[in-house]
Order: sequence, then structure tokens, then C-alpha cells
Amino acid sequence: RRSRMTVPKFASRKGGEPLVCLTAYTAHVARICDRHADLLLVGDSLGMVIHGMPNTLGVTLEHMIMHGQAVTRGAEKALVVVDMPFGSFEESPEAAFRNASRVVKETGCTAVKLEGGVEMAPTIRYLARRGIPVMAHIGLMPQAMNTAGGFRAVRDEAQWDAVIEDAKAVEQAGAFSIVVEGVAEPLADRITQAVAIPTIGIGASAKCDGQILVFEDMVGLFPRVPTFVKRYGAMEAMMDDAVSRYAADVRARAFPGEEHTYAARRGGDAG
Ligand code: KIV
Ligand code: NA
Repeated sequence: RRSRMTVPKFASRKGGEPLVCLTAYTAHVARICDRHADLLLVGDSLGMVIHGMPNTLGVTLEHMIMHGQAVTRGAEKALVVVDMPFGSFEESPEAAFRNASRVVKETGCTAVKLEGGVEMAPTIRYLARRGIPVMAHIGLMPQAMNTAGGFRAVRDEAQWDAVIEDAKAVEQAGAFSIVVEGVAEPLADRITQAVAIPTIGIGASAKCDGQILVFEDMVGLFPRVPTFVKRYGAMEAMMDDAVSRYAADVRARAFPGEEHTYAARRGGDAG
């Protein structure tokens, strides 16, 4: 039985055995992933994956807190990190602290994650020095989809130096780890070499110190997935099959059977 993962323990795994990370939005998924993962991220991808939004921009602090509460109830060993949603941290370090401290107080998570590099370094420093560990998120930043014109991987060599500067800036500011999303392999390699904190890749090759995937993508429960996702399950097909057999049983009056039915009880006791 592993002991609870902490921020210093997680950070000390730089360059060692790769760190296993997954998203979780609910207590039951957290309970399953907690048996195998070092870190559970309550990602703002929940807006798209379980609330059917077209992107992550509509996700609120209340969404993150509600799902964060569910995940901390289901997780015993993994480090639980909650995403700061769009609009909750960009305005100022003070506003970010106000919202991040609510997330920590109300969910019991250990750390928060926020998107941004050089421009968010002062905010990361402000939180980290006041008791809130921060995981940074650089490269493809989904909350910047409108300025970037979509979800665009960083492949063009002309863009690489800026991303390496982002990595160094968030490390200097005190981030304990960095999610590196959607970058070409040589850039992921250079970022990982450039910083002393673990890089956690998503669509960022095996050159990172760990990996993260969205649980629903990984188990085959979300219809459209990017090419960097490997599917380890076919949960949508399994669930579809279960629902279709249930529907057929109900229509045929084959469910509920006798074993699912309460017998009458003599006497006055209710129940
Ligand atoms: O929101 C999310 O799920 C994320 C991970 C994919 C890194 O930010
Ligand atoms: Na996110």
C-alpha cells in the first residue's frame, strides 16, 4: 500500500521512474485511478468531456469545486490537483489567490494547475509562496483557443524558444511540475532538459518525465480523440451494450425478475 503522494515527493521524481497521471472528475473514476496513478487532475476538460461544452472557456469555479470535492472523496493515495478555470486567475495574483484558496479549502485538493508561461510567472510565485502549490501548463493551452485560432500543437521551430522560456519562467516562479501539451518531440526533450521539475506530457512524446491522458479518452468513452491518445478500453461500446440489453429486458418485461423484487411482509412494519 503506497503512502499518500505529496508535492515534494512528486517533484523529486524528476528524471526517475515516469510519473503516471490521469484526469478524474468523479468519485468512482477517482477510486479506480487512485489505485494506479501518482496524480489525479480534475481538469477543466470536464466542460467538454462531461458537460458537453464546445471548449473549456465556459467552465466555472463552481464546476471545478463540485468535481474537485467528488475526486478528493474518491482518492486516498494520489496527489489531487484541480485546474483553475478560464477567468479565475488571469486578472491578478490577488484574484488568483482568492479563487485558488477557495478551491483548496472547499475541495481539500493539494495543488492547483493553471495555463500560462512567462505571463503567469508572477501569479505562480504569489500562490506558491503563500501555501498553494502550482502545476503549470504550457505549450498548447486550450483556454487560449480564441487567440490561437483553435487547438494548435506547437510544431514550428520558430515557436520553440518562447515555450522553453515559458518553462524556465514557471520553474523559477516555483511551480512544482509542468504539464507540456501538444509539442513536437524535440521541443519536449529540450524543455525536459531545461528544467529541474518534472514535465508531464500530453501529446508531447515520451521525452517527458511523466504522462497524462483524459480518462474518458483513454478508456474509449469519448467519441472524438486526438491522434496522441492511445485507447486502452472500449467503454462506450460496453456501456451501449448494457443500456441496449436493459432496454430490451424492460420492453419484454424480462426485468425486473423475481430476484429483483420485494416480497410482501406480514405485519405492520414498513420497508
Ligand atoms: O483539463 C485537462 O484535462 C488538462 C489535462 C489534459 C492536462 O489540462
Ligand atoms: Na485543463
